[in-house]
Order: sequence, then structure tokens, then C-alpha cells
Amino acid sequence: MLEPFLSTNEITKISFECGLDRILSGGIESKTITQFYGPPASGKTNLCLLAVVRCVGQGKKAVFIDTEGGHSIERLSQIAGDNLEAVLENSYFYEPASFSDQQFIVENLDQIITPDVGLIVLDSAVAFYRFERNDENASEINKALTSQLALLSGLARKHNLAVIITTQVYASYEVENGVEPVGGSMLKYWSKVIVELKREGRDVEAVLVRHRALPDGMSVRFRITSEGIKTLD
Ligand SMILES: Nc1ncnc2c1ncn2[C@@H]1O[C@H](COP(=O)(O)OP(=O)(O)O)[C@@H](O)[C@H]1O
Ligand SMILES: [Mg+2]
Repeated sequence: MLEPFLSTNEITKISFECGLDRILSGGIESKTITQFYGPPASGKTNLCLLAVVRCVGQGKKAVFIDTEGGHSIERLSQIAGDNLEAVLENSYFYEPASFSDQQFIVENLDQIITPDVGLIVLDSAVAFYRFERNDENASEINKALTSQLALLSGLARKHNLAVIITTQVYASYEVENGVEPVGGSMLKYWSKVIVELKREGRDVEAVLVRHRALPDGMSVRFRITSEGIKTLD
């Protein structure tokens, strides 16, 4: 029998607990993919880590897929402060070494998702994609990336959890501000909330590019601090 899907779960939000919430209508929404894009050092990873800390602060667990393999744990310890132990206990960290590794992890996330998981982060969605994509494999690798986004979107809706993906930018003369996100239309299709991060000296401007409930163009400025971020207006 075809059972109608009755969603009893209300959308929940992971609040950043600062002015950034203003352009997100309260925080990162469950059941949807939120995308942050921007150049290197524009704060993408910082925002992802802060979301993990806030998610755990709300009593939930978080999954963090770090494709840029790095120093995320060190930075996480600064942002989490006294809550580091709780954050580590309630987070699953993965560091894929290739695009196929990333594919494997995303395809198998279903196995570790329990009702208390509130957030999945894929930071970055496109680092391996960009590196490994060539004329021969373009169609195949595009299809694989699309399937990852579809899987993440499905998990978000099925388990009422939030998903954050990040993407880099490349120079483009076709748009006003001169940069476009890597994976453009594919990522755009799957991301219901999109925020562009622009570095301005020591500060970052976060501009809302897409949201279901807010006008695009809203923006907020923040500075990356040792404890996380501090909004400036
Ligand atoms: N403890 C800290 N205090 C202040 N700024 C920091 C600290 N740690 C990292 N940063 C800043 O964060 C920026 C990198 O942000 P990140 O989120 O990694 O960028 P992205 O992921 O967009 O490349 C760098 O400019 C760095 O100076
Ligand atoms: Mg990063």
C-alpha cells in the first residue's frame, strides 16, 4: 500500500547565537541544504564548525565531512572552548582522501544517522570535484556530485536534520561581482538557502543569495575571532 508521508516533524533551526541568524531567519534550517560559498579564508569552515558546536549545544549530534583535511579539529577546540569534550563526543568526523572516498561516505551516511543527529556538514562539497574533474570524466563526476546532493537532501528531509555544504568560487566576467560558485547550477538547484561570503580586509560580509522566507540581498558583517565569529552590525 502506498502510505502517504505525513511529516509530524516541525522544521528546527540551529542558531548561530549572533547577528548572522538575522539573514537566516533564526538559524540553519532542518530539512534543507544550506550553502556557503566564498573565496579562501572567507570563513566557510569557521561557520561550519560553529554550527557543529551550536548543534551539540542544542543536545544533538553532528557529522562533519572535512575534505580539505586539515586543522579543523584544532580550530574546533578554540571555538568549542569548555564544551570541546561534549562536542567531540557528539560528533562524527570524516576526512575523505578523494572524490570517490567522499562519495562512499555520503552514500553510507544513512547507516550512522540516528534520530539525535541534527546536522551534516560537507566542507567542501567541491574541493575533490574541482581537482579531479577533467574532459573525460566530467559527465560521470557531475552525475556523482548530483547524487551526493540528492542523498544529502533526502537525509535532511527524512531525518529532519540540517545540511551545510560549502563551495569555492572562480572568477567570472559574466556576473556583476566577478565570482561564481564552483558547481554552480547543480549546487544551486539543491541548496534552498545560499549565503555568499565576501572577505573585506579583516571582516567578512555575508550576503543572502537565496532564502524561502527572506528577501535576497540581506547582509550582515562579521569578524572571525579566536572564539568564533563576532557580528559587527
Ligand atoms: N584563532 C583565530 N582568531 C582569529 N582569526 C582566525 C583564527 N583562526 C582562524 N582565523 C581566521 O579564519 C580565516 C580562515 O577562515 P576559514 O573559515 O578557514 O575560511 P574558508 O573555509 O572560507 O577558507 C583566516 O583568515 C584566519 O585568519
Ligand atoms: Mg575551509
